[in-house]
Formats: sequence, C-alpha cells, structure tokens
Amino acid sequence: MLDLEPQYRALRPALEAALERVCGSQQFILGEEVKAFEEEAAQYLGAAHAVGVNSGTDALVIALRALDIGPGDEVITTPFSFFATAEAISLVGATPVFADIEAESFNLDPRQVAALITPRARALLPVHLFGRPAAMGALLELAERHGLAVIEDAAQAFGARYAPPCVGCDGQDCAPATQARLQARYVGTLGAIGAFSFYPSKNLGAYGDGGLIVTNDAQLAERCRKLRSHGSLVAYRNETLGYNSRLDALQAAILRVKLPYVAEWNAARRRVAETYNELLAGLPGIVTPAVTTGHVFHQYTLRLPDRRRDAIRQALAEQGIGTMVYYPTPIHQLPVYAGQFPPQPVSEAAAGEVLSLPIWPEIAESAQARVASALAQALSAGA
Ligand SMILES: Cc1ncc(COP(=O)(O)O)c(C=O)c1O
Repeated sequence: MLDLEPQYRALRPALEAALERVCGSQQFILGEEVKAFEEEAAQYLGAAHAVGVNSGTDALVIALRALDIGPGDEVITTPFSFFATAEAISLVGATPVFADIEAESFNLDPRQVAALITPRARALLPVHLFGRPAAMGALLELAERHGLAVIEDAAQAFGARYAPPCVGCDGQDCAPATQARLQARYVGTLGAIGAFSFYPSKNLGAYGDGGLIVTNDAQLAERCRKLRSHGSLVAYRNETLGYNSRLDALQAAILRVKLPYVAEWNAARRRVAETYNELLAGLPGIVTPAVTTGHVFHQYTLRLPDRRRDAIRQALAEQGIGTMVYYPTPIHQLPVYAGQFPPQPVSEAAAGEVLSLPIWPEIAESAQARVASALAQALSAGA
C-alpha cells in the first residue's frame, strides 16, 4: 500500500546529518530548528505565519481555539474524512454540523453547506480529501456572505494548489475578485487558518507525529503560538489554558530535509494516478478519480459500485496486493456520534464503494500494472 523506504534510502545521509545536528545542539523542543522549518514552510506555502505543533489533530483544535470557537458554536464540516476533523470540533466544545459531499470529488458540497448555515454557525471546516482541493471558491463566498471563518483541514494535501472553478459550483462562478484571490494558491492558505499533518505516511511526512498551522493573520498566529505551549509565550506567564503541543526539533529537522522534494514527489504522485487511469481505462464497474489541477493524490481512490468492493479487496489481498478503505464509516455514523446526526446519503454510499490502491512517488510502473491486472481479473471473475 505504501513504501517509505525509497525516500529514506535516497535522503539517508541528509537525514542522518540533520539528526546529528539536533542531537549536537541538545535543543529538542521548539528552538532554532523548529523556527527555521516554520519559516521555510511558510515561505513555501506563501503564508505569512506558520506554527509547528504536535499533530494535525492539534493543529485543528488550536486553530478552532484561536478563533474562539467553543460551546454553543456550530462548525460545518464533512462527514467523509478521518475522525480527527470532527473530533477537533467536539473537543473544543462546539457542535459539528455535517454537510454531505460531492460524489465525484469526495469533498464538502457547497450546496449542502448553504442549507445548513444557522445563526449559531461560526466556521466552515472543509477537508482537501485525498489531496484534492475542496471547492474553495464557493465555500469562501458562502463564508464571506455569512460572516464565517474558514479553517482548512489540509492534513492530506501539503503542496496541493487550488485552481477554480470548483466542482459543485453549479454554474454559479465565483466573483472575479474571489477567483483572483484563489488562483493557484496552495491549500491551507486560502481561509483564515490551515492545518497540516506530518504523520509519516502523509505527502510530507515526519518520523513521528507532527503538524503545522498556517495563517496570514498575525494575531491568530500569536494565539496559536500561545495555545501550543500551555497558554504562554513567556515561560511561567500562563495567560490561558493551552496544550503541550510543540513540534519537536528532530521532526522539524527531518521535515527541513524533505520540504525541498515535496513538489517533485507530488508531481510523481500525479503521474502514478495518470498511469493507473490509463491502465484501468475501460474496465467496467469502476469509477477512477479525475486528475484535476492541483490534486496531489495523497490517495488514489476508486469507486466500486454494486456492493463488490469488499470481495474485490479480498481478491487483491489474495494476490498480495494491499489496499485500504478510506473511510469505511462516515464520521456521523461512528459509535461516538451514533444517533446524533441525520443521514448523509452521498457519504454513506461512498463509504461502501471506495477503495484506495497502492500509491507512493517511487512506485514502479510494473507494480502498478500488476495491481491493474489483478483488479481486472477480479472484476471479470465477478468478485
Ligand atoms: C483529513 C485529516 N484530518 C486530520 C488528521 C489528523 O492528523 P494527525 O494524525 O497528524 O493528528 C488526519 C490524519 O491523520 C487527516 O487525514
């Protein structure tokens, strides 16, 4: 499903030197290494500020807290994501409101969002799922019209660029000013705050947990810095309840080695997706993902309708081919939220049909061909 070894092999001397540097400095939490990574990541993404934290989950929690979102507030988000997206909203005491997704992009559907905005709504929390930018033009326009903040969950989409128009625009093109604002910007920098994860399997992955908050708002950045360190910017002057959520120097050093390669890796992921699409073209009973502008293919995710997904997954497993189901249960149906939210038919259908195939930048074309032929065989055998 994923092989991180080629990346490690290629960068090993630089990674070892980076680890040596940190160990030699004996500065393990925050410090110069983290500051340098924050500056380099902010510059790469075109954000004014970047704040390194412990994980993508903490990046979301701290972003919500920095925006003063809490009990009594509603945050509209997608039910088709990793649990952390909604968990962060619940953890700050706010209420997640689930809006269904677009069947084609697996991302939040702006038309569904529009119908769910109440006076208690404070923010929209779109996810750029599988590395595909969400319909940010329409979402930002909605947010502006209703005075809502936009927090981007860009955990799976480091280096993805947004390019309008978005799917789901329904012919209502964004105003030219919005279009200009969005053109070719990196996701995470489009709303008020963006949250990234450096979980090892991510497009930019650390060697442990890590996360990043980006924003163009100096005040929000300062609040995030305070919140990540027990509510204090100066040692022993705690001004608010915060978290122990600092990016550590070893992770920052590793991320600094990897950052210059992320564009190359993302381009390679797009080529892998194109190759899969060519290999799988014309196979009956599957829907392949579109290689849209800016998509960085954290996952290459098919749809297998007609209740065949699990049997096909099993058939591939028997040939030694790993696949994953992201996500088998939409968030609103997870035990923690069971019975609390209305049905989300598009997400529920997707959960029964999605299958993610092996993808990493260095995967060999021969390996992809083997996956494709095993899939074709399973489909024709009626699995
Ligand atoms: C969409 C999404 N949001 C949030 C997270 C949470 O990130 P982390 O695992 O770094 O806490 C993840 C990843 O794992 C994710 O995929």
